[in-house]
This record gives sequence, structure tokens and C-alpha cells, in this order.
Amino acid sequence: MALKCAVELRIPDAINRHGSPMTLSQLLSDLQIHPQKSQHIHRIMRILAHSGFFLIHNKTTQQEGDEDQEEVAYSLTNPSLLLLQHNPLTLSPFLLSMLDRVLIEPWQFISTWLCSDLDHRTPFETAHGKQFWEHMGSEAKDGEGFNAAMASDGRLVMSVLLEKYSSVFEGIECLVDVGGGNGTMAKLIIEAFPQIKCVVFDLPQVVGSLKGSHNLMFLQGDMFQAIPPADALLLKWILHDWSDEECVKILKKCKAAITSNGKNGKVIIIDMAVDSNYKNTKNDLLMTESKFLWDLLMMVNVGGKERDEKEWAQLFHTAGFGAYNIFPILGLRSLIELYP
Ligand SMILES: C[S@@+](CC[C@H](N)C(=O)[O-])C[C@H]1O[C@@H](n2cnc3c(N)ncnc32)[C@H](O)[C@@H]1O
Repeated sequence: MALKCAVELRIPDAINRHGSPMTLSQLLSDLQIHPQKSQHIHRIMRILAHSGFFLIHNKTTQQEGDEDQEEVAYSLTNPSLLLLQHNPLTLSPFLLSMLDRVLIEPWQFISTWLCSDLDHRTPFETAHGKQFWEHMGSEAKDGEGFNAAMASDGRLVMSVLLEKYSSVFEGIECLVDVGGGNGTMAKLIIEAFPQIKCVVFDLPQVVGSLKGSHNLMFLQGDMFQAIPPADALLLKWILHDWSDEECVKILKKCKAAITSNGKNGKVIIIDMAVDSNYKNTKNDLLMTESKFLWDLLMMVNVGGKERDEKEWAQLFHTAGFGAYNIFPILGLRSLIELYP
């Protein structure tokens, strides 16, 4: 919440505009903080610096007629550079959506949900009376915020995929981005590979009003019913939203889509693989903690789960797939290539 507050106040942007470590008094005069509350900003900055979002410096300032004064000053770090509003890879929309009241409220309902005999899929449904995707379809502001969040995550992941793993798209003529949101990933794919025709397949509430171009098409539908045929399907942050039974249904539709017309295509999955044996180093412990928290996030909001490699393999086998490769690509995310 301290980080959300800093992003809402655009503190990273203020420090960036300043161009050198910004003192607390400079920051206070830049932000529109009520004078009676200005003494609290350093407390928010202290925990965020401790968590690695800012660096703290001691800056000597010269006041007219006074002695030199030491004042605390702040500069940006790699994580806070990713929160700048105009950074093309900004994650601010992701952070603001994940910490929005609508996604935080359901965490208050976990025990109620666990003990209730109501047939609610998730604590989200207990809190808001609707399932997640239905809510995002009916509350335009929440839906737009969520789609913008996914788009910002997509830009970051795509930058890594295209820089380090672009061979995954080689030889593809037609790709369907299943649950592809507002088409951000698809647009980046066709920018890098203009010969690929991309179809962004998602619910009517997400793609119904979006216009494509000569090699980009938006198609509304339900992946549990049918997925359009293609050489390759992309499923980013899709399968972790669903139960094992639902994933098997989606994966069977995927298999039908990539094997239609006698072809043998592939499914490109970007999702999380929880480590079953993690090493006892600080970094791995933090990473594992984040993955376990994401697992709860899936339970609380959408009714899905995070899986370890054995659980992924079991899903692929049950859905009738023959082979897969799995590589960790960025932080929590892995790239899985899945073959019929
Ligand atoms: C977590 S978001 C991921 C969006 C995008 N793949 C990304 O990572 O940026 C899941 C997406 O699945 C879509 N979705 C949910 N249920 C669906 C269904 N039954 N058929 C097609 N898409 C669906 C949602 O609208 C949403 O865009």
C-alpha cells in the first residue's frame, strides 16, 4: 500500500524529473501533500527504500546565512524505474490494478468463503457477488484497469521474449493469442515478425469493440467452446486462472486447434512454475514466497492455482499432449512449449 501510494503520488516521476537525488524538502514541495501531513512522507519513503525501491543519500544543503545542513535525499533504483509513467515498460498500471480496492477486498473473505455453504467459486465472488470475469465485463472501469494491467505486463514479458527467446516465434504463419486481452502482445509479435497473422481471441467484453489491421484480427468467443485453428497458440497468464479440470478442457481445445488440417503446431504457454525443491538461498526463498502468494491470489480472485512442473506435466498428459519444454524466462514466469 505504501508503494501504491508512492505511485499514485507519482513519486518516482518527481524524482526522475529532478534529475539528481531529491531531498525530502524538495520532494514535499513538488508533491501536493497537505502541510499538516508532510511529516509522514519520510516514513513511506523509508520502508520503500528498505524494500529496494529508492536509494537514500545524505545531501548537504546550504541555507542562506545558516550553516550547512544534512538532509535525506532519494534516488531511483531499477524497480522504481519500472514505475515511471512514461517508461514504455512501466508496470504502474499492473501495480495499481492488483492493489485496487476491488482485488484487495476479497482477501478479507477467505475464512468466510472456506466455511460458507454457498456455492461461491472464490472469495472474490463472496465479496462482490459475481465471478471475476463477469465483474470485469460489467464494471467498465475495473475491466479497463485490469486490461491495462495485463497490457503493461505483456509489454515487459514481450520485450524479454523478443530479445532472448525470439526463436519461439520462428516459422509461425498464423498465431492465436488465446485470452489475448487488448492485443498488446499480438501487436508486438507482428511488429517483430510481420509475416505472422495474429488473431486475438477473448471474451466479447474485451475484444468486441476493437479494430484489427491487415495481419491482426480480434475475435470474440469462449475458449471452453472452441479455439480458432492456428500453427501456434499463445496462452499467457491463462491456465493459472483455472482448475485442473478446466485446464484440461482448454488444452483439449488447444490440441484440436493446432492439429486441424493435419498440421502439428505448438502451444506457447507463459505462466508460473512453482519449484518443488527450492534452494535455501535468500533469493530463492523470496521467489518461492512470491509464487506461493500468487497461488493464493489465484485462489482468492479467479479460482485458479499455480503449479509445479509435475502438476503441469500431469495436465499436459491428461489433455493428450506428447512433449513439452519448460524454461524460466523472467522472474516468476516460465515459457513452456507444448507439442501434440
Ligand atoms: C489474466 S488475463 C491474461 C491476458 C493476456 N493473455 C496477458 O497475459 O496479458 C486472462 C484473459 O482471459 C480472458 N478470458 C477469460 N475467460 C475466457 C474465455 N472463456 N474465453 C476466452 N478468453 C477468456 C480474459 O478476458 C482475460 O483477457
